[in-house]
Amino acid sequence: MAKERVLSGMQASGRVHLGNLVGALQNWVRLQDTYSCYYFIADWHALTTGYANPSPIRESVKDLLVNFLAVGLDPDKCTIFIQSRILEHAELHILLSMITPLGWLERVPTYKEKQQELKDRDLSTYGFLGYPLLQTADIIIYRARYVPVGVDQVPHLEISREIARRFNNLFQEVFPEPEALLTDFPKVPGVDGRKMSKSYNNAIYLSDTPKEVEHKIRTMATDPARVKRTDVGNPELSPVFHLHKIFSTKEEQEEVAEGCRTAGIGCIDCKKVLIKNVFNVLEPIWARRDQFLRHPEQLQAIIEKGNEQARVSAQETIELVRKAMGFYYTG
Ligand code: TRP
Repeated sequence: MAKERVLSGMQASGRVHLGNLVGALQNWVRLQDTYSCYYFIADWHALTTGYANPSPIRESVKDLLVNFLAVGLDPDKCTIFIQSRILEHAELHILLSMITPLGWLERVPTYKEKQQELKDRDLSTYGFLGYPLLQTADIIIYRARYVPVGVDQVPHLEISREIARRFNNLFQEVFPEPEALLTDFPKVPGVDGRKMSKSYNNAIYLSDTPKEVEHKIRTMATDPARVKRTDVGNPELSPVFHLHKIFSTKEEQEEVAEGCRTAGIGCIDCKKVLIKNVFNVLEPIWARRDQFLRHPEQLQAIIEKGNEQARVSAQETIELVRKAMGFYYTG
């Protein structure tokens, strides 16, 4: 039996950090053995909020590609591609825009939230409102069944399902309704205890050097009650402990928590354990990053092959769409 199709994307608006790794990429790697997986870099989506200064998008695309491969996405098992290289996404997007009621887009919660969050930018644009519609085109152009995403993306998936249904009802049954494959990983906190995010300047990046990672962890805040080495602390109040919960074994977590509560260990001792464990995760990734960065021609070949595979599949769907809507001419 043919494997069911999974698709997911990551927006090219920054470098890959530990939050992306634990929250998305590690799950993508697991899925590639079971499903027919399509993973892509959403560079057009980066324009929706970054249109005034698009130059960083290019760097981000490179960083994402290298890291997709470095974390273990295998181009022999899955299809890795770049959104803007597959023009069929754009054709489907314009066709879908004709059948999408404005109200559906206006009531997506992320629309108003992001506008509030990024007050310094003018996001009263057509492209920004259409963000979930472009995402819908990304998904259904491959007739994907499952979309691994975090809970924040559920409203977008809901719109995708509604639009697929509307198209099927208006014209012909072309699209399966895509389902979110929820990745219920704990949010990875950044070095300040808030959610890890490039906009908070609290992220540990896969492209950071060992020195940088060590420095970021060594200078993290801890429970402010522990001023002197002999002061006892509450691990729950320390962002370091929250990272231990993700990267350290249960035994290590108990040991450092106990050491914190009793002042049995100092904050630096606790951080050393975390540094060791984060290094264990990052070292194989650093090694593969180096290898790929030394061979840009390999990266180029991999992405060209992925783009081509994706294009073939997208072209099959767009043919069905044109036929369903009567946009099919010969000669
Ligand atoms: N909106 C997604 C995010 O911010 C990125 C994305 C764009 C995406 N198109 C997609 C995710 C299609 C899944 C499927 O993370």
